[in-house]
Amino acid sequence: MQETVHVGLGDRAYDIHIGPGLLARSGDLIAPLLKRKRVAVVSDENVAALHLDALKSGLQNADIEMVSMVLPAGEATKSWPHFTTTVEWLLEQKVERNDVVLAFGGGVIGDLVGFAAAVLRRGVRFVQVPTSLLAQVDSSVGGKTGINSPYGKNLIGAFHQPSLVLADTEVLGTLTERDFLAGYGEVVKYGLLGDFKFFQWLEENASRAAAGDMEARIYAVKRSVEMKAEIVERDETEQGDRALLNLGHTFCHALEAATSYSDRLLHGEGVAIGCALAFEVSARMGLSPQEDPSRIRAHLREMGTKVDLSDIPGDLPDADGLLELMAQDKKVVAGKLNFILARGIGQAFVTSEVDRDLVRRVLQEALAAR
Ligand SMILES: NC(=O)c1ccc[n+]([C@@H]2O[C@H](COP(=O)([O-])OP(=O)(O)OC[C@H]3O[C@@H](n4cnc5c(N)ncnc54)[C@H](O)[C@@H]3O)[C@@H](O)[C@H]2O)c1
Repeated sequence: MQETVHVGLGDRAYDIHIGPGLLARSGDLIAPLLKRKRVAVVSDENVAALHLDALKSGLQNADIEMVSMVLPAGEATKSWPHFTTTVEWLLEQKVERNDVVLAFGGGVIGDLVGFAAAVLRRGVRFVQVPTSLLAQVDSSVGGKTGINSPYGKNLIGAFHQPSLVLADTEVLGTLTERDFLAGYGEVVKYGLLGDFKFFQWLEENASRAAAGDMEARIYAVKRSVEMKAEIVERDETEQGDRALLNLGHTFCHALEAATSYSDRLLHGEGVAIGCALAFEVSARMGLSPQEDPSRIRAHLREMGTKVDLSDIPGDLPDADGLLELMAQDKKVVAGKLNFILARGIGQAFVTSEVDRDLVRRVLQEALAAR
């Protein structure tokens, strides 16, 4: 039960291995990358407590020595103070230009450690060992690394592709249900943006995957990263098509800002809500079938993830306030907001031709239903 997806980026190409038992095999898989048998691992406190020993013994199987550093868990770790600590720890550990750094955790650790590797000695190689569903299907692939700034999320960073990705689907078993479902927001995004058949497969099989069925988990991760790899190969640095991966994200980023990046709303939950809103706008514009938004909502409801603005606890700004936050999105080009809309499930496209009043109305109605 192992799958491999190749990301074909010339001299920056790499493999993504997916399946159970990869921590145990990590030494054999990483050894070919090493000039000396030593790696530096950065993890967070939750992942380290549950899985660092398994990684250590997997590396030991191939006589690879490991030094490790453990950071606090949570989005706040993706910040200058923890970034500085990480880079300086790597220097203290005498990580050399030819060494390899391992990012062992969810998207927070992957983004932070990838960025640290990008700047350390002007760039050292790194391996992603993603442990959350979100990180396995999305953040560990494609080379976007970075940290947050008080001015916004992911505003500081670099493109730095990993040399290898090891997505051990067994470690997903220790995620909380909420974190698993948040990652599912990104999985469903792939079906919605580019593969109607995958969406249909998810309608039939995603609850099996959530309940722990390994075969279903592997397929969901594999199909997601295949789609991401294909898009990244076409447009590595987001000059065009890569923006499709941001389906639902303009709404999501505004909602995350409105909830102060707190656990009132996890990133993947915001993506699920954002995808539903993007399809609502698409349907109102007559671009996609009228029944698509309710079909998507019904599936997300069945999975038990957040779907509507009413699922976010606490106060939210009004529609104009949310529009204002949307205008601060990274995807604003020359003052125009780029939206990802769809001509139907599996047919997303990028456009700046969106009527602001219509978006305001959709938001007003969604807020009124709270
Ligand atoms: N670089 C990219 O392309 C990209 C894409 C999407 C999201 N992101 C970023 O990813 C981040 C979100 O990632 P995330 O949802 O993985 O968050 P996260 O790293 O905070 O992980 C979520 C929680 O799950 C815990 N956890 C992780 N693996 C676990 C396991 N196997 N068992 C038990 N607990 C585990 C973590 O400790 C944390 O508490 C955001 O910062 C977002 O901006 C980046």
